Amino acid sequence: MCGPAKQARFVFNPCALLDIYLCRMKIDIISVLPELLESPFSHSIMKRAQEKGLLEVRVHPLRKWAVNEYGQVDDYQFGGGAGMVMMPQPLANAIEELSKDKPFDEVIYLTPDGECLNQQIANQLSLKNNLLLICGHYKGIDERIREHYVTREISIGDYVLSGGELAAAVLVDAVGRLIPGVLNDETSALFDSFQDGLLAPPVYTRPADFRGWKVPDILLSGDPKKIDDWRHEQSLKRTQERRPGLLGDQ
Ligand code: 6GU
Repeated sequence: MCGPAKQARFVFNPCALLDIYLCRMKIDIISVLPELLESPFSHSIMKRAQEKGLLEVRVHPLRKWAVNEYGQVDDYQFGGGAGMVMMPQPLANAIEELSKDKPFDEVIYLTPDGECLNQQIANQLSLKNNLLLICGHYKGIDERIREHYVTREISIGDYVLSGGELAAAVLVDAVGRLIPGVLNDETSALFDSFQDGLLAPPVYTRPADFRGWKVPDILLSGDPKKIDDWRHEQSLKRTQERRPGLLGDQ
């Protein structure tokens, strides 16, 4: 079985190992409207995740790879029809240049005809180290980019947005908060809606009596077992009423 020496498949990369050890995730986003993505990651949990070095989000303006000095990145579609298509050249150049730094675990195209984002997909993606997101605009991106570079296509629901940026922001938030260390005990993702396939139970805070509207007695009982049971019951009830499809075979 002595064939020609195979090319080494694993190159030792101490930075990648360190990233894995630190559970650090890098997300690169290619966009024609980078300004749209300035705010979503600059506050609250996403901001803290970046400050703690657990998440790095970099937004790259596609026009950096434009085909001419006018910043052109889109063109008319072959076969006619209204609407422009994002050209293959700028996207291919962008993807190839960014891939030189580090190989991407997934190249994700945000598009309304992709698979619908859910908690399971967010969980899967949170285990990756390097993601590249491509935000679509106009009529979408040239099909050849989807065939040759994109590894996964994701939508955030059955409605059409004017571009993939807001969808990318949703995806980064859903995934970023699952990176170990991003949430503390209080905000733990373990009890999120969907994490156990159920919707979250109702929650209350002070005062115990607001305008005569009372907090359920059991939550004031101080009995953790009873409270847990009540919450689980409420989760089941809420899921049954609102999203029976989630219950499946349970
Ligand atoms: Cl990912 N992109 C656009 N343009 N619209 C959407 C979407 C994505 N997901 C739902 N609607």
